[in-house]
Amino acid sequence: MFGPMMPYICPIMLSLFDAHGGMEALGPGATVLRGFARKRDVVLLAEIEQVSAKAPFRHMVTPGGFEMSVAMTNCGAAGWVTDRAGYRYRSDDPLSGKRWPAMPVPFLTLADEAARAAGFAGFVPDACLINRYEPGTKLSLHQDKDEASYAHPIVSVSLGLSATFQFGGPKRSDPVRRVVLEHGDVVVWGGPSRLFHHGVLTLKSGEHPMTGARRFNLTLRRALQE
Ligand code: SIN
Ligand code: FE2
Repeated sequence: MFGPMMPYICPIMLSLFDAHGGMEALGPGATVLRGFARKRDVVLLAEIEQVSAKAPFRHMVTPGGFEMSVAMTNCGAAGWVTDRAGYRYRSDDPLSGKRWPAMPVPFLTLADEAARAAGFAGFVPDACLINRYEPGTKLSLHQDKDEASYAHPIVSVSLGLSATFQFGGPKRSDPVRRVVLEHGDVVVWGGPSRLFHHGVLTLKSGEHPMTGARRFNLTLRRALQE
């Protein structure tokens, strides 16, 4: 029984943001939602496992011929790919010739809720790029600009090892802000910062209780139609 001095925390009141929750502005239209996905981690990681059983992680090649250090796969109606022919979205996985696995419902729900919390109501992604980082891997500064329209935000979900995210501006040479993203953090950027440059610094070694020596990142996008 709970004695008079025992604190009791109602689990329902902790449902969406956990004790670490909170919002931080990263730029105009860009927000970090601390811990927003933390309570859904088991489900999200299980869905990543399911997707990658059908469409395995692979190291894609840039148009310039460099193999990317981050391993990638996709789910949804469209998947982001790169090879010697360029960056683009494809409805099929070039490894299998089959359509990408369907977008898991928990991804859709999280994308909608996170976008809404950041001020972008009605976000329905049709593409989810899944990145897998191991210590020593990084993602250089880039813009997400292969989508048909920039009217919708990007929702980015971090799971596993922490990483330092860089968020700059419209020009590659613009100054960047650095923010450490932890397991369960979600970043949303859209509107004025939709085309801002961003990247991930080289992942440091470490062990996460749920992912081992790895970080996963989901980027949910609206790639195909307005
Ligand atoms: C990306 O820009 O595609 C991924 C960002 C991240 O891993 O946090
Ligand atoms: Fe990106």
